[in-house]
Amino acid sequence: MITGYDLVRSVLADPRFSSRKELLNVVDFEIPPAPPGEFLLMDEPQHGRYRKPLVGKFTARRMRLLTERIEQITKDCLDAMEETGPAVDLVTAFAKPIPTIIICELLGVPYEDRASFQEQIDKFMNGETGDEELQGISLILLAAGFDTTANMLALGAFALLQNPEQLAALRADPALVDQAVEELLRYLSVAKSFMRTALEDVEVGGQTIEAGTTVVLSYNTANRDPERYADPHALDLGRDSGGHLAFGHGIHLCLGAQLARVEMRVAFSALLGRFPTLRLAVPAEKVALRPETADIYGVKSLPVTWDV
Ligand code: HEM
Repeated sequence: MITGYDLVRSVLADPRFSSRKELLNVVDFEIPPAPPGEFLLMDEPQHGRYRKPLVGKFTARRMRLLTERIEQITKDCLDAMEETGPAVDLVTAFAKPIPTIIICELLGVPYEDRASFQEQIDKFMNGETGDEELQGISLILLAAGFDTTANMLALGAFALLQNPEQLAALRADPALVDQAVEELLRYLSVAKSFMRTALEDVEVGGQTIEAGTTVVLSYNTANRDPERYADPHALDLGRDSGGHLAFGHGIHLCLGAQLARVEMRVAFSALLGRFPTLRLAVPAEKVALRPETADIYGVKSLPVTWDV
């Protein structure tokens, strides 16, 4: 495992470390290469062949144009919450539907209702939509874009509710939301780690990683490295969280980072604006977290309530 900010960042920028799926040296059977389109687990030039045509579709400008749509989707979720609640589960009422609807709309996935999302994924898996490459690309976008953002929204709300001073600062100055999103990304690091495999012997932090060895890059220890961020285990919306590795770094830097940022800004602002008295409906210890072995960290459900 590679830990700490400088080492993790340097390995992410080092082409001697590969993302290729078939090189992963973690089980005692052979792993097949990534299927066509699943460029997260490829190196150059294959990776770039898929990624380059997509970059223009995910720029900050394009994502800002989506803001109104994201606001509308968020408003619909909050309206529904107001109708049913309190109390409601913030995961099912807010954190999951917002990124799900958006990614489905972006991919042009038709849907009847939110419940059919699983069916859409099944259709992709069964090859009922488009050719194989398109299917791989769509699958990686769905998989990477939905669970991560949903857990940032739910866990982010939990973290804010657990840090009343920080929450009060954000409520007092809604313009703080951009910074709040960056700090939540750093603090929560929901994509905790990714793997790379050494293509040759490489020295990292004074140790030799032998060719063929798979390493786990710990993004969460990087983002909570005291050498990089003072008092790293504190959620501090006032700090400069710049340079965090929550979206990775290097050629595989998250393609959806700008989309995720806009979603989080819009969703957190609207949630706090709509429910000034939002609070947990159960003691914090009762909130069910995902097991530490889960790829993406998060809460299973987050019961919240408010004054009516
Ligand atoms: C807050 C939410 C998100 C987090 C924390 C996150 C995190 C990450 C991280 C850490 C990586 C790098 C993986 C590596 O180093 O191997 C990554 C890659 C990626 N992400 Fe995200 N992501 C988020 C949202 C999204 C969204 C909304 C989308 C899609 C629309 C998306 C699409 C992708 C894709 C396609 C890649 C692969 C890029 C490549 O291999 O070139 N992500 N993400």
